Amino acid sequence: MTGGTRLIGEVAVPGAKNSVLKLMAASLLATGRTTLTAVPDILDVTVMADVLTGLGATVTRAPQERVPGQGGAGTAGGRLWIDMPDEAQGAADGDLVRRIRASVAVLGPLVARRGEARVALPGGDAIGSRALDIHVNGLTRLGAVVDMEDGVLVARSDGRLQGATIWLDFPSVGATENLLMAAVLAKGTTVIDNAAREPEIADLCAMLTAMGARIDGAGSSTLVVDGVDELAAVEHETVPDRIVAGTYAVGALMTGGDVLVRGGRAGHLAIVLEKLVEAGAQVDVRADGFRVVGREQPRSIDVVTLPYPGFPTDLLPQVIALEAISSGTSLITENVFDSRFVFCRELHKLGADLRTDGHHVVVRPGTRLTGTRVMSSDVRAGAALVLAGLVADGITEVTEVHHIDRGYAHFVEDLRGLGADITRVQSLAVV
Ligand code: UD1
Repeated sequence: MTGGTRLIGEVAVPGAKNSVLKLMAASLLATGRTTLTAVPDILDVTVMADVLTGLGATVTRAPQERVPGQGGAGTAGGRLWIDMPDEAQGAADGDLVRRIRASVAVLGPLVARRGEARVALPGGDAIGSRALDIHVNGLTRLGAVVDMEDGVLVARSDGRLQGATIWLDFPSVGATENLLMAAVLAKGTTVIDNAAREPEIADLCAMLTAMGARIDGAGSSTLVVDGVDELAAVEHETVPDRIVAGTYAVGALMTGGDVLVRGGRAGHLAIVLEKLVEAGAQVDVRADGFRVVGREQPRSIDVVTLPYPGFPTDLLPQVIALEAISSGTSLITENVFDSRFVFCRELHKLGADLRTDGHHVVVRPGTRLTGTRVMSSDVRAGAALVLAGLVADGITEVTEVHHIDRGYAHFVEDLRGLGADITRVQSLAVV
């Protein structure tokens, strides 16, 4: 891409990656046809569809219809039908499960409905390791017996799971979702305390409730679930992707542009939009989304990530890219993941002046960014490098863009629709 053009126009936000993958897992809880709408055309949905197919489901997908030349301003997302037979198998295909962490979400529904779930872990984590201990401890509280067998996490339940009170050590998004999907079919009442409050969890609660689950406290840190005997398959619209919406918002500010983020829910991005205003953006909240206008060089802001409603860790790389072109020094603190700063090395190649120290990064105002070849290491880092490339002098080449395909549908086309000078030279990664 060649930097220097402002992003101007409209972009439509599809359903959230971090919601739809769990909604897909929830389809395991009922026999029959689940219909999901506003499904993003992203790679992770393809992988999750393969996981469900491996479990006996038939998955049919109708991608988003797009009008050439209109960017993403049309409908947001496609449709997905999951036909679940009465007897879904208990195993998940190991290789596929390894590929996306979200597929761990099949653990809760499978053990609840079938009495056994087997999930091959990324790298074969040991039980009790930091990565899945909260999931495992919670399922154990519900009466499941969880073991590692040759790199496969096996959860078994002799008869129905039993409701219990579970206090999460940390409000883990994935663990909250897994335990919720296990608890809806458990016998008796489950209380999940210190639950994560992300909008995607409220979305999952909404779908489960429509399926017949009895859940109190959706969107709060205490979820009370009264288990039911069975659930029915439903149609559900995926909540809009706040991270995709936030990425375009940051892009509008960075490029001094004017973007209507159609379908973006400002309420899900309250702290983010407040920070962007502090950095110099003008934000207008509208019934159909929100508009972000950037007029001047952004002012520096300090950002600290926290579980929702705090600043989302998934927008951290984008904000670091923003800080790289801002007028002052900023301090960014990451509290959720350990290795999010790997991408700073790539941003540094573009000329950003940043220093990392533990979970902090200090970004100083430097010279202008200059295009070069950089590599995306994960989905958000990849998007952030593209934003940096849009304001860098000359040509920036971002490699390993299959990471971006995991979470951003039609990213290049949508950016072109907003006026960016960007081309994709590598064909879509094939799963
Ligand atoms: C989800 C999102 C991810 C987002 C993250 C935090 C999906 C597919 N991914 O990931 O994009 O960045 O929420 O908003 O929805 N942890 C433990 N033990 C556990 C579980 C988690 O120590 O059993 C730790 C993790 O190592 C991490 C932190 O808790 O440091 C947050 O993890 P979690 O909230 O579970 O994130 P994910 O569900 O994996």
